[in-house]
Amino acid sequence: MSDIGFGVIGLGMGKHHCMAIDKAPGARLAGVCDVDEERLSPVAEQYGCRAHTDYSTLLEDDDIQVVNIATPSGSHAAIGAAAAAAGKHLIVEKPVDITPARIELLIGAVQRSGVKAAGIFQSRFDPLNNRIRVAVQEGRLGRLIGVHGHLPWYRKQSYYDGPHGAWKGTWDMDGGGSCMNQGVHTVDLLQWLAGPVKGVMAMFGVFAHDIEAEDQTVALLRFENGALGTLYTTTCCFPGYDQRVTLYGSEGSITKDEGLLNSWRLESDPEREEEQEMLTLFGGERYNHKASGAADPMAVSFDGHTQIVVDMIAAIAEDRQPVITLDSARHAVEIIDAIYESGRSGREITIG
Ligand SMILES: NC(=O)c1ccc[n+]([C@@H]2O[C@H](COP(=O)([O-])OP(=O)(O)OC[C@H]3O[C@@H](n4cnc5c(N)ncnc54)[C@H](O)[C@@H]3O)[C@@H](O)[C@H]2O)c1
Repeated sequence: MSDIGFGVIGLGMGKHHCMAIDKAPGARLAGVCDVDEERLSPVAEQYGCRAHTDYSTLLEDDDIQVVNIATPSGSHAAIGAAAAAAGKHLIVEKPVDITPARIELLIGAVQRSGVKAAGIFQSRFDPLNNRIRVAVQEGRLGRLIGVHGHLPWYRKQSYYDGPHGAWKGTWDMDGGGSCMNQGVHTVDLLQWLAGPVKGVMAMFGVFAHDIEAEDQTVALLRFENGALGTLYTTTCCFPGYDQRVTLYGSEGSITKDEGLLNSWRLESDPEREEEQEMLTLFGGERYNHKASGAADPMAVSFDGHTQIVVDMIAAIAEDRQPVITLDSARHAVEIIDAIYESGRSGREITIG
């Protein structure tokens, strides 16, 4: 099988996509695009691929079968629909776009063109998260009672300033701030682990930056399975701490900080042998080598992105859906939309 040609649009986070494509067996970076030539030229030179300042010329390149979209979040659906109409398969950065309605439009365009489309929530490929999900699905935590996600991150004002900062923390291009941009991974992880959310109550505001939308959000979550939860996202919290996820159940509880497992306490494991095994695999030392975005927006491991590229190649070869479908990536945006609506109205918002 010959290599699949990839094109990357948007070269901030898109540079991680280039590394991921370079690393993935069976993938070849054929073209890159950015409206900023200072970002474009070095990347095109580094990988020896074609450079485009306009994504429509990249979409005309027959050597490109898959397009990775890593432009500002509020532009994903429009660029994705154009790419799908050009017959390209898609890998779309998180969030797929900033409203459920736009995500629906993109899903429609993908269906009409018959191409494959994947969202990016790299946490779903994390081995520890997968072990937790299996434990929840097998009922090993008993009845889920509490599902909590905290993201006490830190971003300097300079992150929001400058040529590539102006869209961040805005309603029309970022769809919000700490919750939609940074927190969407945590929101998706909670719903992926614990199931859909049917109601939210929230407060948000701007606390420590000169931005439009919000840099701190607190929300109560009502899950379809009856569990209650809390969500906390911020970019104000110096020096920036890792994401914390806690699941409490009637027969077991699991707590972790990003990729570091803190506890795995199950009633079915009275001798705590399983917990020891899990802590050996996912606790302590092992964690010190992992990248964290707590204080550095670019400190994101590209391994998850590599797996998403590899999965897309397999999806094309096997003519199946990618693991992270756009449909499955939509609920996180539905939840965040409801969080903002609740924050504005002061009411509990029901989803769906
Ligand atoms: N998966 C992750 O962990 C992760 C991490 C960071 C960012 N992201 C996502 O990646 C996307 C980009 O974020 P970022 O932080 O890299 O932003 P950024 O502003 O640094 O980069 C976006 C790039 O897109 C370019 N661009 C804008 N409009 C364009 C157009 N029409 N055609 C071509 N290029 C265009 C800009 O010039 C810029 O270089 C966002 O959706 C963000 O949510 C994901």
